[in-house]
Amino acid sequence: MCGIVGYVGNKTACPILLNGLHRLEYRGYDSAGVAIIGADNELKIYKCKGKVDELENFIADKDTEGTVGIAHTRWATHGAPNNINAHPHLSQSGQIAMIHNGIIENFRVLKEALDKEGFDFRSSTDSEVLVNLIEHIRNVNGCPLEDAVRVALKRAVGAYAIAIIEKGNPNRIIAAKQSSPMAIGLGEPGEYYLSSDAASIIEYTKDFVYINDGEMAVLEKGKPLQVFSLDNEPVAFSTARLDLSISQLEKGGYEHFMLKEINEQPKTIIDCTRGRISPETLEITLNGVANNIDRFLNARRIIFVACGTSWHAALIGEHLFEDICRIPVEVEYASEFRYRNPVIFPDDVVIAVSQSGETADTLAAIELARKSGAFVYGINNVIGSSIARATDSGTYIHVGPEIGVASTKAFTGQVTVMTMMALMIAKRKGTVSDEYYREVSAALLKLPELIEETLKLDGEIAEMAKIFTYARNFIYLGRGYNYPTALEGALKLKEISYVHAEGYPAAEMKHGAIALIDAEMPSVAIVTPDSTYEKTLSNVEEVKARGGKIISVMAKGDELVRRISDFTIEVPVTTECLMPIVVSVPLQLLAYHIAVNKGRNVDQPRNLAKSVTVE
Ligand code: AGP
Ligand code: GLU
Repeated sequence: MCGIVGYVGNKTACPILLNGLHRLEYRGYDSAGVAIIGADNELKIYKCKGKVDELENFIADKDTEGTVGIAHTRWATHGAPNNINAHPHLSQSGQIAMIHNGIIENFRVLKEALDKEGFDFRSSTDSEVLVNLIEHIRNVNGCPLEDAVRVALKRAVGAYAIAIIEKGNPNRIIAAKQSSPMAIGLGEPGEYYLSSDAASIIEYTKDFVYINDGEMAVLEKGKPLQVFSLDNEPVAFSTARLDLSISQLEKGGYEHFMLKEINEQPKTIIDCTRGRISPETLEITLNGVANNIDRFLNARRIIFVACGTSWHAALIGEHLFEDICRIPVEVEYASEFRYRNPVIFPDDVVIAVSQSGETADTLAAIELARKSGAFVYGINNVIGSSIARATDSGTYIHVGPEIGVASTKAFTGQVTVMTMMALMIAKRKGTVSDEYYREVSAALLKLPELIEETLKLDGEIAEMAKIFTYARNFIYLGRGYNYPTALEGALKLKEISYVHAEGYPAAEMKHGAIALIDAEMPSVAIVTPDSTYEKTLSNVEEVKARGGKIISVMAKGDELVRRISDFTIEVPVTTECLMPIVVSVPLQLLAYHIAVNKGRNVDQPRNLAKSVTVE
């Protein structure tokens, strides 16, 4: 989902801008561009449809010198991906250049007003309307650029992270944000970096300022950072340190980030539980839960709001909190929840699950919940993300940057955190025995070993993937804790291989979907030991009896399942509520190998973005 980068200081801006754009590519985009002001004070803009590499080739023989610049990767919302609609956009006079992440929802009304003022538009984007509105306000009021930006933003409705530079002023970037991510990096004194994602500029600085929605900043070379409200009130801000290494942003010898992140999971589970489960006493401590335990103990309901894979993790959370804590749970697609006028009580606890912490629909659901007085808790991965800052409290999953668009280690990290939360709360509520608490807590500590063992199946799964590379439809079957796992396995396959796949509760098959079954439609069945094992086995038999090809994810050595399966993926067994974590790993690998066999862009699948920061 688009990316913005900026630099102002004493270094040559262009290499920093291009490097930042490359590190933002994982977010998904369709075009890229840069604007730089040179020592001659001229404003140079280079932009094109396509990849950052293509932009780099395009500007290789151009004049790109200058120490202030802004750059953009676009994910089109208004106006087709092409060279004209790419950012940066120039105001009509050519004086102001702007990049924008988000949507100006009232751009048509603003454009009509500007048309009447004689403005012509080169592009069909909403963003070009905003940069011309800024110019118009400055022309009419004769005010400084930052005042024109402020007034214009008060008239704009929608989401934006914008950066603006002005011809003749090679020392300043003006930035502002509303419901779109932005991090300001602090370099040497009076040297500033800007990005949608702090990780993309981590090699230059580890110190960041995150301005809030409705605020704007002036990044002036050689001067202290200034942050203002749109009412021109100076705003105090704090600096956050982000401890991230470059190696975490590189592929580390893997062909794709996704494969690296799948293989990181033994370590990321360790990172997720480190300091939170005592190896000696098996006691679990999550500060966010401990500091708000009464909210959870007195909760009327828990409502999960999330999207995509995070919504699948939330479905597992529903099992955990109802099964272990005996708290009523609802799981909502954030995009549905925010618009259906839901009933929310002040004693509800809303849990927002999000890897990026920037998903627009989840942010909006949080805002709705907070307006209703509910306590909002976040389960996030990106430190300092908008969702982390919009919630009352939360727990980070600490799995490190997840670059591959298809979420893998974040999913297993989310389920791990939810399990720790449920155990903590259940112990305080007295809804679990000490024995069960210790059993699951110990099993969490043992998980990395089991995932290591499961990762050893990679070669076998890669061979199996060859057989199914050309299947046109898949169905994934699971029950109980593993019904969400089936949904997640299906999403992994469809989003990176573009093959249709759907997850189904195994017992539901006979209510319609079993009509789909034939030899051309592989069924991936999760048949691991749990409370519904025998029932799931029968469901698989029903599919088998109708000629279905069965790929079973099963417990090592389970002859009963092996007998009815055409292909088996044998995994180690752990306590029932943690099996989704173990089972999801081979399903990630299956999807990965099928997608690679089909020549797909595994890390940046078509049409997708890593963080959906627009509605
Ligand atoms: C998962 O593989 C997808 N990339 C997508 O469904 C993702 O989970 C969804 O967009 C939610 O993102 P978030 O966790 O960053 O909020
Ligand atoms: N709405 C703007 C456009 O379509 C910006 C989209 C983005 O966030 O990249 O150009």
